[in-house]
Amino acid sequence: MTKDPRPGADQHDVRHMLYPFANPSHLSRHPPLVIERGAGVYVYDGNGKRYLDGQGGLWNVNVGHGREEIKEAIRAQLDRISFYSIFGGTSNRPAIELADVLCRWTAQEGMARVFFSSGGSEANEAAYKLARQYWRQVGQPMRHKIISLKRAYHGVTLGALSANGITPYRAPFEPLLAGFIQVETPHVYRNPFTTDPQALGRLCAQLLEREIEFQGPDSVAAFVAEPVQGAGGVIVPPANFWPLVREVCDRHRVLLIADEVVTGFGRIGSEMGSRLWGVKPDMMVFAKGINSGYIPLGATMANARVCDAFVTTDEALFSSNAFLHGNTYAGHPLACVAAIANLEIIEKEKLHLNAGKVGAYLMERLQSIQDKHRYIGDVRGQGLMIGVELVADKKTRAPLDLSLNVGARISDACREAGVLLRNLADTFIISPPLTFTHANADEMVDAIDDAMSQLD
Ligand SMILES: Cc1ncc(COP(=O)(O)O)c(C=O)c1O
Repeated sequence: MTKDPRPGADQHDVRHMLYPFANPSHLSRHPPLVIERGAGVYVYDGNGKRYLDGQGGLWNVNVGHGREEIKEAIRAQLDRISFYSIFGGTSNRPAIELADVLCRWTAQEGMARVFFSSGGSEANEAAYKLARQYWRQVGQPMRHKIISLKRAYHGVTLGALSANGITPYRAPFEPLLAGFIQVETPHVYRNPFTTDPQALGRLCAQLLEREIEFQGPDSVAAFVAEPVQGAGGVIVPPANFWPLVREVCDRHRVLLIADEVVTGFGRIGSEMGSRLWGVKPDMMVFAKGINSGYIPLGATMANARVCDAFVTTDEALFSSNAFLHGNTYAGHPLACVAAIANLEIIEKEKLHLNAGKVGAYLMERLQSIQDKHRYIGDVRGQGLMIGVELVADKKTRAPLDLSLNVGARISDACREAGVLLRNLADTFIISPPLTFTHANADEMVDAIDDAMSQLD
């Protein structure tokens, strides 16, 4: 194997692993950096080199690495029992307690019950199946279509993938599921319609309504969207978009699902993404920040409108009124105790407020270097969910030729300087732990500034 010249790149054999979203030929020449240890906002490789974790794992380590409270909760639960199922007539204490905690966290949005799974894709899958079965329960079985946004990311299982609006992720697996439709996303920086954010928000809500009318409202089960689109390039909608979407859904009785896998639990400066927009969805989908990734966990929550349809006079366990869906690791006790401890930390340390404050500062600092560097086209974000889009030409906003690997070269230079950033098709994703400080933000911007100067 060719030795990777990059400092910190671990020399290891990648032959036995097929990595997610990565070209094996590339990895055989550029082995991934192996992270071996973490504490707070820093992680370390096998040589002891320290990196500022600008990615927050995979925008999921909200409370930072190595939190004693979470480790202690997991250890204590291991001493009691590591696993017991919540299927068919048994349950476990941590799952029951976490369900209570989550209903308290989402009381403002009116969530009534939680359905557990193992991650974000599964939690989306459960939401779409719940939506479809809900309409059967209330006597409208024709309502089965799921509408989502272009540039959306909802996961990789076939249902979630079918709701995705990112063409390269969809293309290799076509044809995807029937009945999944994507409409225009309100992307202020890149749209052919208008530069006025409010006008764009109105227009995109109208396009959603037109699509619902075109499909026939009686065939549409739900509309799903991220409060801030993540993997599509950190796209913050205009403030009027979500409230207008709620009105459109109400007019046509379509269920509104908020995919809060990234935005839930503080990342964008409010406890919930939907709360920032002042909207009560019918379902909310969680994973990632729910327990900061200490153990995989997903959760799909629904309000009384949805849940009550499943409570009938038929009391047989496996009746057709049951939600006949579930994953073995749903409500895993270790994941649930980790979540309870994690949510306590977020609440106690008011990390959502810190994310808002430090996020605003970080955006300001990034915008202050924007004019200096020829490739920075746009800096956008909300709280500690920030995207820096690189372009070939700032005036025309012409995208970079991806084969030039400009983004990769900048993230490599940052890595060398001890800062980890995620480069997604030449948009940097910055999503550090919510414990990030102003000094951490300075350290990160200095590294980006230097890396950009080298390239300029
Ligand atoms: C908004 C959103 N939904 C769903 C998912 C899928 O979650 P998972 O990777 O845990 O399946 C992701 C993953 O990044 C996400 O960003």
